[in-house]
Amino acid sequence: MKRGLSFENGGEIEITIAPNAGACFGVVRAIKLGQQVARRAQGKPVYSLGPLIHNPSVVRELEAKGVKTVTHVADVKSGTVLLRSHGVVKELEQSLRDKGAEIVDATCPLVKKPQRIAMSLGQKGYFLIIVGDKDHPEVKGVLSYYGREDFMVTYDPEDVAKIPGDVRKVGILAQTTIEVKILDEVVRRVKEKFSDVVVYNTICDATSVRQNEALALAKAADVLVVVGGKNSSNTNKLVKICKYHQKDTHHIEDISEIEKSWFTGKRKIGVTGGASTPHEFVDKVGNHIANLLQAQGG
Ligand code: F3S
Repeated sequence: MKRGLSFENGGEIEITIAPNAGACFGVVRAIKLGQQVARRAQGKPVYSLGPLIHNPSVVRELEAKGVKTVTHVADVKSGTVLLRSHGVVKELEQSLRDKGAEIVDATCPLVKKPQRIAMSLGQKGYFLIIVGDKDHPEVKGVLSYYGREDFMVTYDPEDVAKIPGDVRKVGILAQTTIEVKILDEVVRRVKEKFSDVVVYNTICDATSVRQNEALALAKAADVLVVVGGKNSSNTNKLVKICKYHQKDTHHIEDISEIEKSWFTGKRKIGVTGGASTPHEFVDKVGNHIANLLQAQGG
């Protein structure tokens, strides 16, 4: 099966994989770094501080190659530590260095950018607004580079009204995976209230590209399979978009979860995957469905 093309069974059944479904370049880079580090470890410990990417199958595969996922710096004894694609809090990275660990930074370059901007805004005394989710590891990491207490993390443009009155200048940046319309609305309201405003659109288009394709697929398909970690916010967003337009949407992490009955009486089957799902996983799912249908004679 070719990506973006269709499997056709007697001209009746089509399986379409969204053209860009699956891992973004930041995730592909992180997985490659994880594999390289595991290969050259030669028995020395290799850790990932938090899951390297939000995909449990990939994390399990890396674990089998010797990359141990740990939650706390205290769990790292010595050896090499991979910093995950979403980035980590600056102080944690420093504690690892203080312990003498070798750091391999798999933080996506597009996450490094808001970290650098936050640091510069902090040094210049800007009040910082991050449009995003305060509990997301990426946002926590970015905030740690800001290094000040006067900030706001929000998804809600109404919160702009809560910015303290003594604020003189405001810097705005975005979590990489948010929708641009939320950022635009926050910016609009901040500019109404303040004159010294700097805006950095740090949104990564890997997410919006996948969301637009998922939307088109959901409108056209009779049933959809979305592949990706249940802990992956971008995959969950794809599931939400697909479900909105096609209630027969199934979110799977692994091929073993696929049920033949999902495809009974369906003519157009769509497959997509989140930005943390390797391409080969998505393609495997498409092939697996094709094999299932062939085995039952379409
Ligand atoms: Fe990087 Fe964008 Fe992926 S920020 S990790 S390329 S979703």
